[in-house]
Amino acid sequence: MQSVLMDVDTGIDDALALVYLLSRPEVAIQAITCTAGNVGARQVALNNLALLELCGRAGVEVAVGAEVPLEIPLVTTEETHGPQGIGYAELPPPAGEISPRHAVDVWVETVRAHPGEITGLITGPLTNFALALRREPDLPKLLNGLVIMGGCFNYLGNTTPTAEWNVSVDPHAAQEVFAAYSGLPHDSLPVVCALETTERIELRPEHLQRLAEAAGEAEPELVLPEQPEGQRSRSGNPLVACLSDAIRFYMEFHRLYDQGFVAHMHDAFAAAVAVGRTPYGTRPATVHVETASPRLIGTTVADFRGIWKEPANARIVTSNDPGQCFDELISSVGALARSLPLRSS
Ligand code: BDR
Ligand code: CA
Repeated sequence: MQSVLMDVDTGIDDALALVYLLSRPEVAIQAITCTAGNVGARQVALNNLALLELCGRAGVEVAVGAEVPLEIPLVTTEETHGPQGIGYAELPPPAGEISPRHAVDVWVETVRAHPGEITGLITGPLTNFALALRREPDLPKLLNGLVIMGGCFNYLGNTTPTAEWNVSVDPHAAQEVFAAYSGLPHDSLPVVCALETTERIELRPEHLQRLAEAAGEAEPELVLPEQPEGQRSRSGNPLVACLSDAIRFYMEFHRLYDQGFVAHMHDAFAAAVAVGRTPYGTRPATVHVETASPRLIGTTVADFRGIWKEPANARIVTSNDPGQCFDELISSVGALARSLPLRSS
C-alpha cells in the first residue's frame, strides 16, 4: 500500500484530488488535514468529511489546523470555488466529526510513527506544513516524499500578476518550507506542481461525459457553455452529479476570466503525481518566495542555473502529459462512481 497524508483547502480541484486518491485501491489515506485557503478551514473539513461519506469512506481522520496564515490576514476565494468551496455541489451535512487532534499534531505524530513510509501531498497554502516543520524539522527526512501544488515559474500568476493562489495566501509559510529543504538530498526535495504545468490539466465538457460513461451512466452528462449558469446535473450517480455540479461552477469561473469553458485541475494532477500514476519530468532549482515587496508578495522565483550559489530546495515539474492524466483520473474515479449506489431522483 502507498500511504498518503494530505493537506488541502477543498476546493473544487482538491475535491477531485481527494476522490481520485479514494478511488485508488493501492492508496491508504492516513489522514486529511485542512488549511484555510479557498474557504475557511472548518468549511474545508466539512467538505472533506462529506466527500468521504459520499464515496463510502467515512472513518478517515479529518483534522483542522491553522485557521489563518502565519503573518498576513486570511483571504478566501468563494468567487472561484463557490460559497462552500465545492461549486454548485450540495452535499448532505456529514455525520462524521472533525478530529479533536490539531493538524500539526497529525502530521508530526503520523510521520514519526511511520518513518520513511508516508508521502505528503499539499494542495492548499503551506501554513500547516510550515508549522509542522517548526515542531519536527526532520519531517523531510522522515517522509517518503512530498508533492506540493503551488507557485508559478516564469509564468503568469493566477492571483496577482506574478503569484499563484496557494503561495499567495501564505507566502511566509511557503518561504519557510522551501528554506527547510535547502541542501537536502535530491530525492527528498519536494516535487512542485506549479501553474505552468497544472494549467495544462484543462478539464473540458467531454471529460465529464467520459466520466459518466466510465461510471456506467446510460444518459450523457452534458455540461455545456450554452446551458444556463448553475444548471444542476440530473445524473443518478451521486459522485458524477457532485463532480459535475462542482466543476460546472469552476468552468463558469474560468470563462469569466477569458480562459474558456474549461477548468484547471491543478490538485488532481498533483495527487496523481504523488502516487506515481501520471508521467512528469522535473528540474532541480532553488526556490525563493517573495514576502516583502507589496506588489510582488507571493511571487515564486526559481534559480535553475545556480546563479545564487545556493543548494536546490525543490524539484519543479517541467513536463507532464494531460491526456494520460485525464485517462487515469476518469477511469479510476469512474470505477469508484460505478461502485456507488445510485441516488433516488
Ligand atoms: C490552487 O489554488 C486553489 O484555488 C486550487 O485549489 C489550487 O490548489 C491553484 O492556484
Ligand atoms: Ca487547493
